[in-house]
Amino acid sequence: MKLWGGRFTKPTNELVDEYTASISFDQKLAQYDIQGSLAHVEMLAKCEIISKEDADTIKKGLKVVAEKIKAGEAELTQANEDIHMNVEKLLIDEVGAVGGKLHTGRSRNDQVALDMRLYLRDSIVTLVELLTKVQEALQTQAKQNLDTILPGYTHLQRAQPVLFAHHMMAYVSMFQRDTERLMDSFKRVNRSPLGAGALAGTTFPIDRHFVAEKLNFDGVVENSLDAVSDRDFVVEFLSNASLVIMHLSRLSEELVQWSSAEFNFVELDDAFCTGSSMMPQKKNPDVAELVRGKTGRVYGHLMGMLTTLKGLPIAYNKDMQEDKEGMFDTVETLKGALALFAPMVETMEVKKDNMYEAVAEDFSNATDLADYLVNKDLPFREAHAVVGQVVLHCIQENKYLLDLSLEDFQQFSSLITEDIYDVLSPKAVVNARNVVGGTAKNRVEDQIKQAENVLSNSKQWIAVYAEKVNVLK
Ligand code: ARG
Repeated sequence: MKLWGGRFTKPTNELVDEYTASISFDQKLAQYDIQGSLAHVEMLAKCEIISKEDADTIKKGLKVVAEKIKAGEAELTQANEDIHMNVEKLLIDEVGAVGGKLHTGRSRNDQVALDMRLYLRDSIVTLVELLTKVQEALQTQAKQNLDTILPGYTHLQRAQPVLFAHHMMAYVSMFQRDTERLMDSFKRVNRSPLGAGALAGTTFPIDRHFVAEKLNFDGVVENSLDAVSDRDFVVEFLSNASLVIMHLSRLSEELVQWSSAEFNFVELDDAFCTGSSMMPQKKNPDVAELVRGKTGRVYGHLMGMLTTLKGLPIAYNKDMQEDKEGMFDTVETLKGALALFAPMVETMEVKKDNMYEAVAEDFSNATDLADYLVNKDLPFREAHAVVGQVVLHCIQENKYLLDLSLEDFQQFSSLITEDIYDVLSPKAVVNARNVVGGTAKNRVEDQIKQAENVLSNSKQWIAVYAEKVNVLK
């Protein structure tokens, strides 16, 4: 008979069992579920709702069940629907009828919300740690490339030269915001819904705060209807995760482009590329491509969760069982991507000479010629027009700005003098952007220094919070 079978007169249709069961995926929550139960049963004894002896028996039993599940020795069945009822059934098998006291003052509705939060807060800490490692790899590349100049692009057309270090640090900043979003979300995830019961609370004199403290939560989700109904913390996570993978996907796209023969700006290490079954010469940036591709499934999970929740009446509805697979898949997808990106970025070879050649053979110093004329008091709009003419002339003559003689320049403006050649060199062009956050070397060095502080803050956060969620290990 089912744990809830009392009011039924026939067995469930087999297809219904199959369709409604969540054990195939929510078994991932097993250890969190048992930790939650351990805290719950301790509270029941403390509040004298069950005896100390019964609580001890149940706790011992739960620990045995936890070990058996870990070792793959426990039989988790579809007939028992989900991880919560499977654990309860295993417990009763282990310790007898007294195991049936565990669920006193609790519902699967507050229980599942608890498990989701325990799982997610643990995952957030791991993801922050992995993100920090990617940032460190980018920063290492930045430090090694403080003199590497490449074309900066807009519209994928060469625009103005930038330091490769500056480009790497742009991603460090993006991932920093991602990190901060995840850290900030932690405080909303880290609240205990247990004690909300099915929806209205419970008649037993429970102590919600005791359970919350036992599990290192920062407090409870107070309103019982809210506690069991909302999955906004899942949506928030999926949204934050979408931004992480969006950033990873843009970096992936750049790595794919840069490692093509057309760009030839970087070479990814052999260990992070794969070959072709037919074309012997191929070395493909598959990891970067796959991360770019997996962005779709993460966005999909966000849309899926939002849509599942839309229009659900308060409180729990079975629809909400759909909250899990997308969240699990998103966590796994991000963990996989981030774990690969750190070493892939760190080991990539930066082809400084090719980058420099690309800068030397373009018009990315044209703005500097215009700025030069502005410094000689020509209004910017007129300077822009003059330089446009110079560029057109160069294109017709198959030359770049630095190929022109002083006489050539002076045909377009008498304001141009010998010092123009210093102004237009790639290094001078880069270092002229000497504003806060600009690409001048000293400004990029500032960014690297600041990032060092920020990353050490992240590491402190990780140390503190890894300890907090450690109750589950
Ligand atoms: N397996 C369910 C879920 O994941 C657990 C909660 C079920 N609650 C219920 N009243 N049927 O959502």
